[in-house]
Amino acid sequence: MRALTGIQPSGIAHWGNLFGSMIPITKLCDEHPGSFFMIADLHALTTMTDPKKLKKESFELAVDLLALGIDPEKTIFFRQSDVPQHAELAWILSTITPMGLMERAHSYKDKVAQGLDANVGLFTYPILMACDILLYDIDLVPVGKDQKQHLEIARDLAQKFNHRFGETFLLPEPRIAEEVAVIPGIDARKMSKSYNNTLEIFAEEKQLRKQIMRIETDSKTVEDKKDPEGNTIFELYKLFAQEEEVETMAKLFRAGNFGYGDAKKMLFEAANTFLSPLREKRKIIAEDPKRVQKILEEGGKKARQRAERKMEKIQKKVGLA
Ligand code: ADP
Ligand code: TRP
Repeated sequence: MRALTGIQPSGIAHWGNLFGSMIPITKLCDEHPGSFFMIADLHALTTMTDPKKLKKESFELAVDLLALGIDPEKTIFFRQSDVPQHAELAWILSTITPMGLMERAHSYKDKVAQGLDANVGLFTYPILMACDILLYDIDLVPVGKDQKQHLEIARDLAQKFNHRFGETFLLPEPRIAEEVAVIPGIDARKMSKSYNNTLEIFAEEKQLRKQIMRIETDSKTVEDKKDPEGNTIFELYKLFAQEEEVETMAKLFRAGNFGYGDAKKMLFEAANTFLSPLREKRKIIAEDPKRVQKILEEGGKKARQRAERKMEKIQKKVGLA
């Protein structure tokens, strides 16, 4: 069993990313040595226009992932742009992709609906993502629910290619973390960089406290009895606290004389206990950028070797080699 996944470098990672994607994926990579974890910087180019920012965020994401436990001895940890075969295969697959298949892709339609000036890269985004997976004969792709359609497209393109040129690609299976709840942000909407409502994973203690204090609440007084279910502070507390602690907070809310400020203090303590060792580990890793660079280069080399071998076969099949 071999897994591959990618994360776009696009801004400071938050609790939604941590619990919805980074922790489950890191765990899966650990359970399946020889899996691939990719920083999807070519995909990020479809929406990021500042070169310095892209470079910086790719690096920061690598540091984040190493701090969260990606083990480069076990996992092929690399940058997408270090393996030119991704873009090369994307061209080949684009020539067998029906326009209609891309036109139906939600992510493109959503971005256009949001008023984003769509470029062709955004339109063909799912083809490049299919290549990321198909190049490495991957069985399993852990992704969030929002990526389900992209996986269907990858399978569809693999089948089309196999049908036309003979068995070449494995059909990847998605591993969709359905059970991961949507984590609310400080305004109770889904936590997302685009809503500016995030709580950062690696914020310094003081900053973390400040961010937590900004969580929006209703106008109930300290004395009022409150329903914990659906309350943002309570939902976030569940991410970090033990079962009995969660029960205690629920009881306090229901009993009254327990204000939102008190609840926020409890949330801060639990979150900080969980996050501070990660923060310390991240600091140590970030102090040695050359080492991080080297890890990515070595990962890139390993990925390239595999991609080159696969690409030779693909070229033969289509009549290029
Ligand atoms: P953002 O909405 O901040 O731009 P991304 O779309 O880059 O976040 O998220 C990357 C992955 O992180 C998603 O595929 C999803 O698995 C996970 N994720 C993001 N936000 C949340 C959330 N609020 N709750 C649960 N998971 C989330
Ligand atoms: N599109 C994915 C996202 O935005 C990132 C991604 C790129 C990816 N290539 C991939 C995920 C290959 C899984 C497999 O979250």
